[in-house]
Amino acid sequence: MVKKWWKESVVYQIYPRSFMDSNGDGIGDLRGIISKLDYLKLLGVDVVWLCPVYESPNDDNGYDISDYQGVMGEFGTMADWEELLAGLHERGMKLIMDLVVNHSSDEHAWFVESRKSKDNAYRDYYIWRPGKEGREPNDWLSFFSGPAWQYDAQTDEYYLHLFSTKQPDLNWENPKVRREVYDMMTWWLDKGIDGFRMDVINLISKVPGLPDTADGSGGGEHYINGPRVHEFLQEMNREVLSKYDIMTVGETIDVSPEDAVLFAGDDRGELNMVFQFELMGIDSGPSGKWEVLPWKLTKFKEIVSRWQTRLHGKAWNSIYLNNHDQPRLLSRFGHDGEHHNVSAKMLATLLHTLQGTPYIYQGEEIGMTNVRFETIEEYKDIETLNMYREYLDKGHASEDILKSIYAKGRDNARTPMQWNGEEQAGFTTGTPWIAVNPNYKEINVERALNDPNSVLHYYRNLIELRKKHEIIVYGDYKLLNAEDEQVYAFVRTLNKERLLVILNFYEKPAEFALSERIAHETREVLISNYEVSAEEDFHQLTLRPYEARVYKLF
Ligand code: NOJ
Repeated sequence: MVKKWWKESVVYQIYPRSFMDSNGDGIGDLRGIISKLDYLKLLGVDVVWLCPVYESPNDDNGYDISDYQGVMGEFGTMADWEELLAGLHERGMKLIMDLVVNHSSDEHAWFVESRKSKDNAYRDYYIWRPGKEGREPNDWLSFFSGPAWQYDAQTDEYYLHLFSTKQPDLNWENPKVRREVYDMMTWWLDKGIDGFRMDVINLISKVPGLPDTADGSGGGEHYINGPRVHEFLQEMNREVLSKYDIMTVGETIDVSPEDAVLFAGDDRGELNMVFQFELMGIDSGPSGKWEVLPWKLTKFKEIVSRWQTRLHGKAWNSIYLNNHDQPRLLSRFGHDGEHHNVSAKMLATLLHTLQGTPYIYQGEEIGMTNVRFETIEEYKDIETLNMYREYLDKGHASEDILKSIYAKGRDNARTPMQWNGEEQAGFTTGTPWIAVNPNYKEINVERALNDPNSVLHYYRNLIELRKKHEIIVYGDYKLLNAEDEQVYAFVRTLNKERLLVILNFYEKPAEFALSERIAHETREVLISNYEVSAEEDFHQLTLRPYEARVYKLF
């Protein structure tokens, strides 16, 4: 397998608005991040992925960009950003930036021009169509509720927006748009950044003619992995990416491992890896993410194992269990009460021992949990607020909608980072833009640093192990127990070395039998979330609640 620095790295994702506020305005900022660089170094991560910090009216917290080459005033200045980059580099860490080019803000200068007239030079930078019999040009739906088209009286036409009405889709069919994007990317790379995370990058190519859907189901079949997406990414790679030693990860909605091999295959000349959504869909019903269903470990293992084996030797996995769009992993897949500490460590063990690059989302390393605000007024996320209104209109009860929000709302991940037990969790001296999770007195960085048994120190150990054992990065993967509904066990192999990972996913103690062959091998515990006795019968293990063990076998 080809060795690459980005395969050996651990990435830490920062959502700047909620990370650290340096000036008391209640909004996280660049100087706040700078003040925490030594913390990141202590944690041991190699790469920071910074969610958008560009100029933006913040309809979708920075994913609606009005100037791709400017820094958002609320976050600081370009000089602050440069200091951040230098600070990371000085400490041996790298920086990847969020690239959001499926759409811009409607306040971007291109769109301001584009909407002025049908013959404006920027008209074709976006996707404009006349209405059909007084209605939208087609029946596509927006990810943020309602139709994917917005009527604009000035020119009596509609523009396409797959996300909010303030996020018009860029027209990638237009070579001038692609040139602008490539030039902008080059400009950032020349400033010394180390790569990009590419927002919904598999939506950039739409089927020509923009046809209606077959069944009114939203339109995804006409823009997910669209006809020219690989051509565009190969062009981007040729024109920009291939000229630098960087890492790229594409956010790709609704892709299979086979699609991933096309986006990130070693020989494809496109991206280094993609984020898959199959695992994140494990607890969603047919009507989508807000229909919350129980999930099963057998299905969980099936999905992860399929991605592990189908990409092996062909493309590279990115491993994540949460991010700024997802609920907190602990509340979703672990136990955010009594077994908080052990279950956070168990999930971390999985994250760091699969084949692929692990992504840690801010706060995950101290076991931050979901939040339950009592009223809808406390929520800030546009997706959540739009959905709430839509569901109320359809006749759902407010309590029921709130239940879905508690399980799946994006604000679960966006409450301020909990630094200490002081007011506002040490995030700000002012009033935070979104309320702090009330559990900050128990769950915070300061406490975790002082407790040798904390989730934080366990993350540090896992990250360190990755640097010591090549097998964690490059070993292949084999699932041991597909049918077991409680334990997840797998073996990684590299040359003559083997790694055995055993995880109890539930509170209930579990019996777990190992094969004669494995049971007789010499073993060493590399990491575990409980004390492990050397006396134990290795044929038949009894695992404690959320127990995780990683063995090296000889
Ligand atoms: C995916 C981003 O992660 C999410 O936060 C954003 O709302 C959409 N793309 C639109 O940019």
